[in-house]
Amino acid sequence: MQTRTKPLLRALAGETVNPPPIWLMRQAGRYLPEYRKVRSAAGSFLDLCYTPALAAEVTLQPIRRFSFDAAIIFSDILLVPHALGQSVSFREGIGPVLDPIAAASDLPASGSSALPGRLTAVMEAISLVGSTLPKSVALIGFAGAPWTVATYMVEGGTSRAFERVKAFALGRPSEFQHLIDILVEATADYLIRQISAGAEAIQLFDSWAGVLPETAFERWCVAPVVEIVDRVKEAHPGTPVIGFPRGIGPRYETYASSTGVDAVSIDYALPRGWAHQHLETASCIQGNLDPVYLLVGDAVLDEEAANVVKAFAARPFVFNLGHGVLPTTPVENVDRLVRVVRAHG
Ligand code: CP3
Repeated sequence: MQTRTKPLLRALAGETVNPPPIWLMRQAGRYLPEYRKVRSAAGSFLDLCYTPALAAEVTLQPIRRFSFDAAIIFSDILLVPHALGQSVSFREGIGPVLDPIAAASDLPASGSSALPGRLTAVMEAISLVGSTLPKSVALIGFAGAPWTVATYMVEGGTSRAFERVKAFALGRPSEFQHLIDILVEATADYLIRQISAGAEAIQLFDSWAGVLPETAFERWCVAPVVEIVDRVKEAHPGTPVIGFPRGIGPRYETYASSTGVDAVSIDYALPRGWAHQHLETASCIQGNLDPVYLLVGDAVLDEEAANVVKAFAARPFVFNLGHGVLPTTPVENVDRLVRVVRAHG
């Protein structure tokens, strides 16, 4: 096995790295003029995801501009339901639109365990990026965690109160388990293949983990992640896994200690002092600057970025946001952030 010289992989392996490695969730996207250009030439968002040369190009754009320590493969968490046969589209100004399902049996490909061919485009994009990345930059693969992906599948898009998917999970648990099992299988398989194609770390996005009550959280967020991490580690024991269960407050402690993830990405609402105290000191934390500081810029941004760095300077840490980069972010503020973080070595 290769020795770990990339700052991101060192931090994820439990080393305190100063200055901390930095990358940003949603670092590729609409705030970049060069992204908007490729995006409009590609036609649809899905065409962009499924064209390896274009997906590789937009993955590399933020690396060229900001020299982040990691690239995250350009794709989307909703490619898995699409691969399972559900209709998925992305509409300007609305977001994702899916033909909602009421049961796992509504999925055309629910009987097959292997993921269909479409997702091979993601593996091709990963190999393309892997062959052109600067030596110090790590490549991250990702997927949505089953609960969050299920919210989109059942609600048919982004939701406000999640009543359909929560009523399904709480009211018909054995049927919901069937849907989660399909997602666990597909997601583990997908991540294992991303690593085989060249992804050096994996992030599981559980953006809506915070909307579930206590016991349901254990069953629908924690348990499926345990299973996915087990399977991924069995196939690729050396590849670190980052979990991002957004909005779960004090439940970060159980999540970090029981899922088997190597690092937890914390949201911007979680108090940093609490996180440092309650999450095992040998384990890596990623986060948690509020993305709105990137809209504000100036000394306000500098000061808060410095607060984040200082809070975690004594432990393994990866600088990131507490949620994704907003589309209205001025590009120069991202530049400024990278300079500030690197100045705090
Ligand atoms: O740069 C990167 O981070 C890699 C690419 C990436 C995208 N989506 C591209 C994208 C990643 C890691 C994601 C994850 C994702 N997708 C999540 C988890 C993270 C989070 O933000 O909570 C979720 C919930 C989704 C589902 C999704 N995809 C939504 C809700 C939307 C619409 C809202 C929005 O931000 O536009 C998308 C579309 C999407 N995914 C875009 C991008 C760049 C914008 C589409 C466009 O260019 O038209």
